[in-house]
Amino acid sequence: MIVSLVGLPGSGKTTIGRQLARRLGWPFVDSDHVIEQRIGCSIREYFARNGESAFRDIEEQVIDELTAGSDGVGVLATGGGVVLRPANRQRLRERSRVFYLHSTPEDIFRRLRHDASRPLLQGDDPLERLRQLQEERDPLYAEVAHFTFETGRPTVNILLGKILMQLE
Ligand code: S3P
Repeated sequence: MIVSLVGLPGSGKTTIGRQLARRLGWPFVDSDHVIEQRIGCSIREYFARNGESAFRDIEEQVIDELTAGSDGVGVLATGGGVVLRPANRQRLRERSRVFYLHSTPEDIFRRLRHDASRPLLQGDDPLERLRQLQEERDPLYAEVAHFTFETGRPTVNILLGKILMQLE
């Protein structure tokens, strides 16, 4: 089985995904990391040089590859914008068990304030940007998700316990 984690940047996909994989004894894959290995630079640089749509093409290809085959096992942390492409939504939903890690823009802003590596959060008003992203994407995360969990309040361990219960 493949477990995919979706949600806004900073919602905890990589942190939770890594720990979930450890608890399950499964491999952990971060699609952004796979993309960076493939493009040979940071996503931020790639965005700046080639634009978002070129990045989304590579992301779609990588998501297809990482979820292909019926015998895959692992935990997949995705990039926050993965749900923008219908093909990604369909593949993730059909080929994996999808968990939406939901956080408020305010909680995320508090966590990400000092993180310069997120291209979509650069600019004058990152909190406003997060609110916009939340508004645009929340319906898409909800559409692709089999389960939704709040990542603002509960501790990582409580959240992990809840996810693991759904996988039993
Ligand atoms: C993006 C989120 C990033 C990364 C890229 C685009 C987005 O991933 O894929 O910068 O559109 O929200 P994280 O959600 O891991 O930050």
